[in-house]
Amino acid sequence: MCGIVGYVGNRKSSEILLNGLSRLEYRGYDSAGIATMERNKIACIKTKGKVKSLIDLEKENSLNGAIGIAHTRWATHGKPSTENSHPHLDNSKKFAVVHNGIIENYKELKSFLQKNGYTFYSQTDTEIIPNLIAYYYKKMTPRFLEAVQLACNDLIGSFAIAVLSTYEPNKIIAVRKDSPLVIGKSNFETYICSDVLGILAYTKDFYILNDYEYAEISKDEIKFFNKTLQPIEKEIKSIEWDFSTAEKNGYDDFMLKEIYEQPISIRETIGSKLPIDAPSNLDEITFTRKYLSSLNKIFIIGCGTAMHAGLVAKAMFENLCNIPVEVDIASEFRYRNPIINEKTLAIFISQSGETADTIAALKLAKSKGAKTLAICNVIESTITREADYTIYTHAGPEIAVASTKAYTSQLILLAIIAIHFAEVLKSTDTETLNTFKNDILSISNKVSEILENIDILKEFAQDNCNIEHAFFIGRRMDYLVSLEGSLKLKEITYIHSEGYAAGELKHGPIALIENGINVITIITDQELMDKTLSNVHEVISRGARIFAITNLNFPHNDFDYFLNIPKTNELLSPILSVIPLQLISYYIAKEKGLDVDKPRNLAKSVTVE
Ligand code: M6R
Repeated sequence: MCGIVGYVGNRKSSEILLNGLSRLEYRGYDSAGIATMERNKIACIKTKGKVKSLIDLEKENSLNGAIGIAHTRWATHGKPSTENSHPHLDNSKKFAVVHNGIIENYKELKSFLQKNGYTFYSQTDTEIIPNLIAYYYKKMTPRFLEAVQLACNDLIGSFAIAVLSTYEPNKIIAVRKDSPLVIGKSNFETYICSDVLGILAYTKDFYILNDYEYAEISKDEIKFFNKTLQPIEKEIKSIEWDFSTAEKNGYDDFMLKEIYEQPISIRETIGSKLPIDAPSNLDEITFTRKYLSSLNKIFIIGCGTAMHAGLVAKAMFENLCNIPVEVDIASEFRYRNPIINEKTLAIFISQSGETADTIAALKLAKSKGAKTLAICNVIESTITREADYTIYTHAGPEIAVASTKAYTSQLILLAIIAIHFAEVLKSTDTETLNTFKNDILSISNKVSEILENIDILKEFAQDNCNIEHAFFIGRRMDYLVSLEGSLKLKEITYIHSEGYAAGELKHGPIALIENGINVITIITDQELMDKTLSNVHEVISRGARIFAITNLNFPHNDFDYFLNIPKTNELLSPILSVIPLQLISYYIAKEKGLDVDKPRNLAKSVTVE
């Protein structure tokens, strides 16, 4: 959840490191720090607060070294404070470490080091790492790389680390286990980062470290080693993302930019996968009719918004392919001994590809014999490397913590995969599939239409920014998108909200409805329209204020707010109805003066359990 940046080259490293940290700030943001090598001594500054505070501090302290490491922190062990910020130095100030992840056995290692005379100044798990390296350097080996390796062999948990040492002042050692780390290369300069976005401005060429691979980086070369420090060759990969897509491009916030990018990101996701009058084109997977008909279950796993996309996908696969689908939250799935075998296909959805619970769930499904398919946005992320097959959403970088364009792209991609399976299985007639394909191909223009008609959403946000509770209700697909609308409202406006199946209200939650409570209802299901409307009238009669979002015709004089959206296939309706829900949350958060892109307590990718 935190961010790491490192630099080895000829330039003033602090400028590059601070720039990289600013780009990573969405990952973790309660404190930040930087350490550079200054005439064979480590200079380290750190502070509580956002990267801006570190930039101001650097101006007072001017770090000029051409090699350095930096970090933004999202507290796990120990409160946000200067002492707990990274980099952490060993007692002799010969080693400096930045770390992402959690060291599960840090208490044992700390007491071992304390018995050996080491003192600790922070409450973090990380501070044991530089001291353990120093211990091994002193006791076992006068080689920087070997000392890091010996220390890492003792660590249980997850880590991506970058280490500086005055003993070999021209180098950085980097290593990872269960936490991402990439090495970027341009002419005579090397960058280290926990996320390609942090250094995309400098290079598009990356080495991706795997677990327990070490990189020994100096100005002239990068050497890679495996867990036992045998030299290994690594292939450099080019990332095609355009750097400008990671910029705000005139928008106030990344979230708004990403909401407005959806017509384009949806088109990018579709790409050439749906040729007219020809079968779908999914080169990434080679599932035969024999294999697909042998499946007794598809599992779809993810967290948060990705899991919500899975719920919609369940309806797509069950309707078009006639295969039973079970959807689960990754953190539950991994601990509940799910029934899986070689007749199970397990699909993992993740924007970042680095969510710790989703990775663990994937490893579990694989170990039980399932084939695994990743639906991911970030190229070469951990989940894509663990899964048997990967299909990328190609939505472009999503920076705002609240997921928007990743969700709509996930839904589009899952719909295409469901079509593909149905074609292979011949489980749905061609005419129905062709109509569904055309609905997918026309959806991007319908998203644009909604984005051009937002006055009522702004008005709702202005009138209701001070509410304390809200309900999102609907049936079938409208219920599934209610869950996503409710999650968006919670995470960026801090308003308590519930997504509920409209028919379930009277089994409990209707007790909470009283004068002035906001109920946002999504009604796009013709077959169930009357039933949902009668639930809406039940809450109106108890004083609720109603915002109805619909593509159907019905009398709505009793409603306080009303928005018509374009029609589409019922299975695709969440792709359209989620857009106003994203915007409602966005504009309420703006009315409240909140930091939309970086809501409190949240980080973009949750790389710890
Ligand atoms: O990167 P992932 O898709 O695996 O992330 C999963 C969730 O953490 C994520 O969707 C989260 O719920 C979002 N902040 C929701 O907007």
